[in-house]
Parts: sequence; structure tokens; C-alpha cells
Amino acid sequence: MKRVITYGTFDLLHYGHINLLRRAKEQGDYLIVALSTDEFNWNEKQKKCYFSYEKRKQLLEAIRYVDLVIPEEGWAQKVTDVKEYHVDTFVMGDDWAGEFDFVQEQTDAEVVYLARTPEISTTQIKKDLKLNN
Ligand code: CTP
Repeated sequence: MKRVITYGTFDLLHYGHINLLRRAKEQGDYLIVALSTDEFNWNEKQKKCYFSYEKRKQLLEAIRYVDLVIPEEGWAQKVTDVKEYHVDTFVMGDDWAGEFDFVQEQTDAEVVYLARTPEISTTQIKKDLKLNN
């Protein structure tokens, strides 16, 4: 069985996220999503999530492409996750292109960057809602 992992916040789940998860799953048979915790988002990215970790996790678990959701608690866990979960393919959106090539050097996994879906992001949704209300 080919195992795939991807990382993200997935707040205010939108069709760009679904496109990414569908294509990530197509890379193998079993998709693990490492979901940023609220603390990691706040402390490391100064991002406050609209939906809590538990809510974002529930939404992801309801998606047919997602087999397992684990917490992303720090920048340094990627290589350990890949080894612990016997991951074959490490997928990220191409907004991160080149940033995780070290995973390929330090593990047996292949790193794949998938093209982002244009014109949609959580940040954009938040901005648009502020303008319209
Ligand atoms: N993603 C994508 N296409 C989009 C938006 C996101 O493929 N239009 C991908 C990202 O590249 C990432 C994953 O979905 O691999 C989770 O992205 P995340 O940062 O949680 O979503 P964004 O909508 O980009 O959120 P933000 O605006 O807060 O960065």
C-alpha cells in the first residue's frame, strides 16, 4: 500500500482544499493529513483559526480522500512523521515549492508539489466576508 502525507491548516474548508486532497490521494492508496494545531498556527504563523482544531479535524475526517488526521505541532516533525508512518509520497501545494526538498534527502519518500487551485484561499474568504458585511 502506497502512503501519502500532506500538511496544512484547512480552516474554512473550501474547494481549493478538496482539489488538493483529491490529487494527493491519487498519488497513492492511503492519505494522512497532518493538521496544524491552533497553538502551532498562533505561535508560529500568527494565524488565528476560525474553526478549532477539533472542528477542522472532524471536517477532514468526513472527506472520502482522507484516511487519517494527525496533529502538526511543529516545523521539525516532518522527517519523523514520514519515517513513523512509512510514507512513500510527501505532497504540498506549490506555494511551498522547494521548501521541503530536504524531506526527500533525509528519507525514502518522494516530495511532490501540486499546483494550487487559482483564486481561492482561506485568507481571501475572510477578506471578502469582511467587505460584504
Ligand atoms: N491549497 C490549494 N489551492 C488553494 C488553497 C490551498 O491547493 N487555492 C492547498 C495549499 O497549497 C496547501 C493546502 O491546500 O497544500 C492547505 O492550505 P492552507 O494554507 O490551509 O489553505 P489556504 O486557503 O491557502 O489558507 P491561507 O489563506 O490561510 O494560507
